[in-house]
Amino acid sequence: MSFKLAPSILAADFNQLSDAVQLVNNSKSEWLHLDVMDGRFVPNISFGFPIIKAIKEVARLPLDVHLMIVEPELYIQRFRDVGADVITVHYEACPNLHRTIYQIKETGALAGVALNPHTTAPLLDDVLEDLDMVLVMSVNPGFGGQKFIYRSLQKIAYLKKARTERNLDFMIEVDGGVGLQNAQALLQAGADVLVAGSSIFKSEDPIKTIDRFKEIKRNNVFL
Ligand code: DX5
Ligand code: ZN
Repeated sequence: MSFKLAPSILAADFNQLSDAVQLVNNSKSEWLHLDVMDGRFVPNISFGFPIIKAIKEVARLPLDVHLMIVEPELYIQRFRDVGADVITVHYEACPNLHRTIYQIKETGALAGVALNPHTTAPLLDDVLEDLDMVLVMSVNPGFGGQKFIYRSLQKIAYLKKARTERNLDFMIEVDGGVGLQNAQALLQAGADVLVAGSSIFKSEDPIKTIDRFKEIKRNNVFL
């Protein structure tokens, strides 16, 4: 599985949104992570269709759209239409998860399911075959800049083991409190996609920080 870094635009300066997207374009990142919050699934509201559409016009990387919203099945096609390449819904928000996964796949986007910190990974056992990605939340969703929950490493390891044993190929993404200090442990546990907001955009030199994430992977080629 190839390693991907997905800077989260939530931590960027929204007055200079286009500059932030250009910065990611011109970096060694693979994806751009977009956090959609509805004020119901999480106690915060971020941005929606018009902003994603505007970002799509500038972005040269796939848009990794993380939906922290209730009833995401009502909006899948619209997120695809404004440019989402990967669409991730929350397990906790989907009573008909299998149907929602196929709804995403039918649009041509990659389908991901996210797990909140309290949601145990075996709950996905019966849909792992159907997924392109599992997103392990390593903070409670809703805000950037929170503290990494270390138990998430066990969840990542469980998913990696299940993937190997069952010969599957879904990616494992981790989101929340990810930084240079825990990147190696996350890769070791089995993460393929690292989402990083504050640790990149609040750093003195975001491009240099992105390079350092990539170096951690390069120096651990056997991970
Ligand atoms: C949190 C979001 C994250 C957030 C991560 O609800 O899903 O993607 O942007 O931010 P940091 O990296 O600052 O924890
Ligand atoms: Zn996210």
